[in-house]
Amino acid sequence: MKLTVIGTGYVGLVTGACLAEMGNAVTCVDVDEQKIARLREGILPIYEPGLETIVTENQKQGRLRFATSLADPGAEAPVYMIAVGTPPGEDGSADLQYVLAVARDIGRRISQYTVVLDKSTVPVGTAERVAGVIRGELQQRGLSVDFDVVSNPEFLKEGDAVQDFMRPDRIIIGSDSERAREVLRELYAPFMRTHERIIFMGVRDAEMTKYAANSMLATKISFMNEIAGLCDRMGVDVENVRLGIGSDSRIGYSFIYPGAGYGGSCFPKDVRALIQMARQTGFEPMLLNAVEARNHAQQRVLYQKILQHFGPQLAGRSFGLWGLSFKPGTDDMREAPSTVLLRDLIASGARVKAYDPAALEVARRDLPRTWFESGQLQLVEQQYDALKGADALVLITEWKPFRHPDFTLVKTLMKSPIVFDGRNQYDPAQLRGLGFTHIGIGRGG
Ligand code: NAD
Ligand code: UGA
Repeated sequence: MKLTVIGTGYVGLVTGACLAEMGNAVTCVDVDEQKIARLREGILPIYEPGLETIVTENQKQGRLRFATSLADPGAEAPVYMIAVGTPPGEDGSADLQYVLAVARDIGRRISQYTVVLDKSTVPVGTAERVAGVIRGELQQRGLSVDFDVVSNPEFLKEGDAVQDFMRPDRIIIGSDSERAREVLRELYAPFMRTHERIIFMGVRDAEMTKYAANSMLATKISFMNEIAGLCDRMGVDVENVRLGIGSDSRIGYSFIYPGAGYGGSCFPKDVRALIQMARQTGFEPMLLNAVEARNHAQQRVLYQKILQHFGPQLAGRSFGLWGLSFKPGTDDMREAPSTVLLRDLIASGARVKAYDPAALEVARRDLPRTWFESGQLQLVEQQYDALKGADALVLITEWKPFRHPDFTLVKTLMKSPIVFDGRNQYDPAQLRGLGFTHIGIGRGG
């Protein structure tokens, strides 16, 4: 099948590459000319395990091509997938300017039946708005062309994006059009080898499903972070509680890891957008408000623990930070808890040496210049270099190389053997045995 994916970020590039891998002829379009030029040379704009090989191979085989505009002659296709960003507006609601700009572009080009898929995460009612914009453009051109706008939200996780796309738990198709459903049945058939994974529903139902899924997962995390806060005050180890409740199959083990708060370009923005959607209907979402408030507080829990330990005077102290990306397996630092902690530490006069296996380049590009210029933030290329002369190690992203470090070496490098374990990676008893002070999240104080 021939298709065009518009927006070549985390979702668009993974979608385009994986659909090409399944034998389709895919054009990936992005307005960022530099990104496209580099992709044509096989240089990926993001760090995503397994993606580079698929992009390179499919480009070589001619199944995957890149373009900077829908005007590119090869970009005309019976299926368009919109995968541009939907960042938060000032009030937290999703900013649809990029999605609607793409809709205008599509309306200016189509001349035969077309299926337009919303892959971006968009508020309920967006497919109708996209259809309205396309219709308006067609009217201006004096054309009557059939098309369907379908909600097809994406559920991949960064760091596991290829695997998630290739083996999805489900594929949600929101459309009442049998003609569109037929096209999508064919497109997604290669993903149904073991069992049926498509769930058809109404377009508004599909749009809500995406927000409900992300908000449910964010709720599990915030709930567990709240329990961890209680555990800290009651002499309870949250890790035992996590195992105890996760074993109940109705609860499950996933997304109940307490930590330094959820980050990334999705949970924070999508919970806020759903709150705004609710308010626009006159419905106050009490639970979602609490999920958001808990996360806001949770992103500052490590800093509070640092203050509790060292007192309010942090000027002159030095911290070694392990992890910058919002989670392991990605270089994405959007809404990363590490940035919140860095802001607090730097404002209080502390110095930080930070290491991350993938996000150093992004950190160098995106973090405030002044943090580097003042000498308060230094990025290092080797994980142990972050610890030289440090008053404490702060682990905030649980990358694999941080899981089982050489603690003897760690201890010799640091000024004082204190570990703030923001992702409960270490056994407190073992660290105490090695002479460390271990401060985790909800480990009983
Ligand atoms: P991103 O910021 O990584 O990429 C968006 C891309 O769209 C950018 O490269 C940008 O240049 C391009 N773009 C903007 N306007 C354009 C236009 N008019 N024409 C062509 N290209 C244009 O975004 P992302 O993280 O891939 O997210 C995209 C959407 O998917 C969002 O709605 C997000 O909520 C949703 N989503 C993201 C993830 C994820 O893991 N990142 C997972 C599921 C869903
Ligand atoms: C999340 C969802 O998991 C995807 O299904 C969804 O498609 C995507 O958002 C999206 O809509 O963009 P992602 O943000 O890539 O994916 O990463 P997650 O693995 O979900 O982690 C999100 C945040 O929650 C991270 O900061 C992580 O550290 C935190 N987290 C996760 C916890 O604090 N505890 C947990 O138990 C799990």
